[in-house]
Amino acid sequence: MTKNKNNRAIWNTRIKKNISNLYQDIGSSIDIDKRLYKEDIAGSKAHVEMLFKQKIISFKVKNKIIYGLDKIEKEITKKKFIFNKKYEDIHMNIEKRLFEVIGDEAGYIHTARSRNDQVITDFKIWIKNATLEMEMNLTKIMKSILKIAEKNVEVIMPGFTHLKNAQAVSFGHYLMAYVEMFNRDKKRFINNLENLSESPLGVSALTGTSFNIDRNYTSKKLGFKNPTNNSIDTVSDRDFVLDYLFSTSVCAMHISRIAEELIIWNSDAFSLVKLNDKIVTGSSIMPQKKNPDLLEYLRGKSGSIYGDLFGMFTIMKGLPLSYFKDLQDDKKFVFSAHDTIINCLKLLDEIIKHISPNRKKMLELANMGHITATDFADYLVKNFSMSFREAYKKTSSLVNLAEKSGKKLEELNINQLKKIQPRLSEDALKVFNLKNSVNSKKSFGGTSFGNVKKMISKYKKKLK
Ligand code: ARG
Repeated sequence: MTKNKNNRAIWNTRIKKNISNLYQDIGSSIDIDKRLYKEDIAGSKAHVEMLFKQKIISFKVKNKIIYGLDKIEKEITKKKFIFNKKYEDIHMNIEKRLFEVIGDEAGYIHTARSRNDQVITDFKIWIKNATLEMEMNLTKIMKSILKIAEKNVEVIMPGFTHLKNAQAVSFGHYLMAYVEMFNRDKKRFINNLENLSESPLGVSALTGTSFNIDRNYTSKKLGFKNPTNNSIDTVSDRDFVLDYLFSTSVCAMHISRIAEELIIWNSDAFSLVKLNDKIVTGSSIMPQKKNPDLLEYLRGKSGSIYGDLFGMFTIMKGLPLSYFKDLQDDKKFVFSAHDTIINCLKLLDEIIKHISPNRKKMLELANMGHITATDFADYLVKNFSMSFREAYKKTSSLVNLAEKSGKKLEELNINQLKKIQPRLSEDALKVFNLKNSVNSKKSFGGTSFGNVKKMISKYKKKLK
């Protein structure tokens, strides 16, 4: 930038001394908020169009400003723009450069607005786009999960509660649980769009303005639904930031749970899933190792994303209305959480494509821990008009009997079963079959193969 009278902070007309070099350096946000340049320029263009329409600035001034802004946008896009910490943030850097490009008429651009409404206008537009990017990435991962679920509908594994074998499930059904989690994430992000659809532009510093501006016009022009209602609330509000960080945190928590689960299943003790060499790392000392580092990376990242959420919450706590410098860190948190979650989703997508079930081990494990005991209790209820509690008690004694004789439930003979209920016949033995067990869970949302297939095709249609 050239050295001229503009090479000073804009407020230097009253503040005679140059600001502390240290603060200029560390208090500047340009390194972070330059990411908002497109949104900032779009906001400025809409603003000057409106100022002209309302006869607040002339046609000539408006055109000059638009010309200058277009030129600046190109400079930034082509990486020819020199950002200067001295001008603190993206708004002042652009305004300063506008003076250099078009001269003193640049001075009209800040009529009837403040950086306070400017920054949140930019930021809301950015977060709206980030929300769409999240939606796209979530859809992508859901589709990848659907693909592997489809291939594994008839693969039987133990479902766990308390990490103890509980009941038999379809591996496809298990994977479809992940689809539900990500579908909720998607809805959570989409729900945030409502608050993001109110335009802050024109509330100015905090009071609104005496100029005859048209906030509906700028609102429409920038893709918002309508202007915000209260000028003071508008510049103070960062709920939309918290909403975004919260949604990101929940998504990160889901990714972390899935990662942890796959780590456990991949452990030598479980060996339920295999990880392709593409998604493991070796050890520097132990030649035999194949470690699930990528999954551990995913599990850990929820930590930094929660940190971003809690950082923002802490800044907001007790902060009086309206704008304070404290708020400037909002962008740092959101950009960091956003970049992290996008990376995590992409990485998880790659992982999902490179895992495969160890069907044999899944079945072996499912055959342990008497996981068809509940099926047997249900059988008693259905066939001997017993209450469930009664059947539960009888089944417990059957499990005790099996355990004592070191047998699996299905290895017991009919005479042993008859000790529990004399009228039992061979027919009862079928409840110990794992496939029968899975397929008997036909209630809506249950794990029967037919149910899972239906759910997969429902999602496939929905995500097309
Ligand atoms: N860089 C500032 C931020 O992000 C822009 C708003 C500045 N407003 C002010 N009154 N200092 O928060």
